[in-house]
Amino acid sequence: MKKNIPYSIPYIDDREIAEVVKVLKGKWITTGSEVKKFEAQMKKYLGVGTAIAVSSGTAALEISLAVQGVREGDEVLTTAYTFASTALAIIHQGTVPVFADIEPDTFNIDPGKIEEKIRQEYEITSTGLQSKKSKRFLRGIIPVHFSGQPAEMGPIREIAGRYDLFIIEDAAHAIGAVHKGEKIGKSPYPVCFSFYSNKNMTTGEGGMIVMDGDCREREKKLRMYSVHGLSKDAIERDKTGLPFYDIVYPGLKANLTDIQAALGVVQAKKLPVIDRLRNRVAAWYDEFLAGVDEITTPVIKEYNHSARHLYPILLNPKLKASRDEIIIELRKKGICTSVHFIPIHFHSFFKSFFKEEIMLPVTEDLFSREISLPIYPGLERNDVKYVATTLKQIIGMGKK
Ligand SMILES: Cc1ncc(COP(=O)(O)O)c(C=O)c1O
Repeated sequence: MKKNIPYSIPYIDDREIAEVVKVLKGKWITTGSEVKKFEAQMKKYLGVGTAIAVSSGTAALEISLAVQGVREGDEVLTTAYTFASTALAIIHQGTVPVFADIEPDTFNIDPGKIEEKIRQEYEITSTGLQSKKSKRFLRGIIPVHFSGQPAEMGPIREIAGRYDLFIIEDAAHAIGAVHKGEKIGKSPYPVCFSFYSNKNMTTGEGGMIVMDGDCREREKKLRMYSVHGLSKDAIERDKTGLPFYDIVYPGLKANLTDIQAALGVVQAKKLPVIDRLRNRVAAWYDEFLAGVDEITTPVIKEYNHSARHLYPILLNPKLKASRDEIIIELRKKGICTSVHFIPIHFHSFFKSFFKEEIMLPVTEDLFSREISLPIYPGLERNDVKYVATTLKQIIGMGKK
């Protein structure tokens, strides 16, 4: 029988279904007690003081940027090796994304390249770092923890501190990841998670902004921004019986519903198991692909624990078959794969948005050689072996 190995499957069973049905049978389906429960649970899991559930990882980034007060004439530095959301969230604030290249082994933003870019392209002025070219001001950095492996937060924090830049972390891939003994999320600034359907834990669509430390004022503002900038959300108005409200900020409509949160509450309980199973799948790939010179398997730094959202392999540039041909051959054998990421500056919108050519040699090189193999908690050892064996056969056929 022909194998069929999807790229990703959510880890959902009857427990999630029962909790969602319970909410649907109740009287309150939008943001309410389930969201509160979900937030409390995530605070405990991550060991942080603030957790604000929102409608997507994208919304988490947009709200965090809006509350940061960036505006037209500002720039935010990030990686082009990310999903469009990271750069679009910046653009939606009237702000311009600028990019630093990535590390060739982890795919994460390279702090050395951030420093180099700042030194070469910006001037220190009394009102901040001003671009010599565009005259705009660099205000912040958004690192992305690619594939679930934490970025180099020590040097990034040091650079941000030195130049007075804010940090917002894009942790869409990184729930459960640990960097130098600290869980991703435990930061004094916003860290944005995604609970999209293919993420390590899911609420269908959903996201969360978390922070640690004394950030009550910022939390209040972030919460208001997630529901139109309303002074009182629906549950508060319901509690007091007074229907009046005020719009305090130009917020978004980005709250999570109780239906989604009910799913999240069960998923969050499974996080330790999900993390263990994903890491087990990654270890099997490492085992079955060890010693295959034609590919490079993911490199996890010894002080990082990866959430293993992706298993990105790199093909040797000397291979005869192209990356795309290999993807097609894998598909013919019933193996679904993906590519992470099409660099931001390769998309047609961004090509027209950025008037001048952007050159990021490492980003472009890794993209041309990357394939993301299937990874999800339910993937069995035999399936991983089948993927690895098939991949080796296809590569063998395509050798020069
Ligand atoms: C790196 C990264 N950032 C942000 C997002 C956006 O998350 P969401 O789909 O929940 O809006 C994604 C989603 O795939 C992502 O991969």
